[in-house]
Amino acid sequence: MTTAPTTTRLRGDTLPPAVGVDGVSKSFGPRGDRQPALDNIDLTVAPGEFVTLLGASGCGKSTLLNLIAGLDEPSAGEIHLSGGRPALMFQEHALLPWLTAGRNIDLALRLRGVPAPERRTETERLLDLVRLGGTGDKRIHELSGGMRQRVALARALAQDSRLLLMDEPFAALDAITRDVLHEELIRVWSATGVSVLFVTHNVREAVRLAQRVVLLSSRPGRVVREWKIPIPQPRRIEDAEVSALSLTITDHLRREIRRHGHH
Ligand SMILES: Nc1ncnc2c1ncn2[C@@H]1O[C@H](COP(=O)(O)OP(=O)(O)O)[C@@H](O)[C@H]1O
Ligand SMILES: [Mg+2]
Repeated sequence: MTTAPTTTRLRGDTLPPAVGVDGVSKSFGPRGDRQPALDNIDLTVAPGEFVTLLGASGCGKSTLLNLIAGLDEPSAGEIHLSGGRPALMFQEHALLPWLTAGRNIDLALRLRGVPAPERRTETERLLDLVRLGGTGDKRIHELSGGMRQRVALARALAQDSRLLLMDEPFAALDAITRDVLHEELIRVWSATGVSVLFVTHNVREAVRLAQRVVLLSSRPGRVVREWKIPIPQPRRIEDAEVSALSLTITDHLRREIRRHGHH
């Protein structure tokens, strides 16, 4: 049985963060030759917040996301999640290619224990939400890259998580498809109130999407700086404000890359 949420429970500032990363470090390699990948990371994502984690490739973004997802253990520090198991979405869609789009979503619902008649309606609803209504019977290999990532998003949403962890999910798509998926993601985020932590090395993408951009340095990854992005949604990647802020952040990112001299 669920109780109706009170007004105070709905207030973001009274709830624990969706993600709390507290002094997290991570090293890899054999004893005696440990290489630090992440150093003393503090990061929070508020309930319903959209945060992008930005950094050069190899700086430890995926490592941090994997730790938050519980796929690996930090070497030091703690991670707290308030909303149960997060849903994950990667650059590679990780769908089952021999199943249809609908069956991939159905499977996620079944794993959650949703009974069959409800799964049917819920699959339809999720396909509509990512604008794939009527495409449920297509097999994954018949779909374009953009459509596959829509199915992957629908499947992530089928897990009914309060937290969506996304690791460069649109990096392999062409610019126009990516643009459309940015729009869709923001629409889905607004409609569902899910918290999103989105990893990217693309500054404009980070600014176009997020309420807050967190910049990581390289070797080891540290939080360098963060920016609140007050530009109202829906934004476009070409917006003057998005471009201006992207330029500022790119300067900081370049400084970080130069400091480490490996690019
Ligand atoms: N399982 C692992 N074993 C050893 N080194 C790893 C492992 N995972 C990541 N690394 C190293 O940690 C650093 C950060 O990698 P990663 O988190 O994948 O960066 P990013 O996602 O920002 O490109 C890299 O130097 C990478 O080689
Ligand atoms: Mg990565």
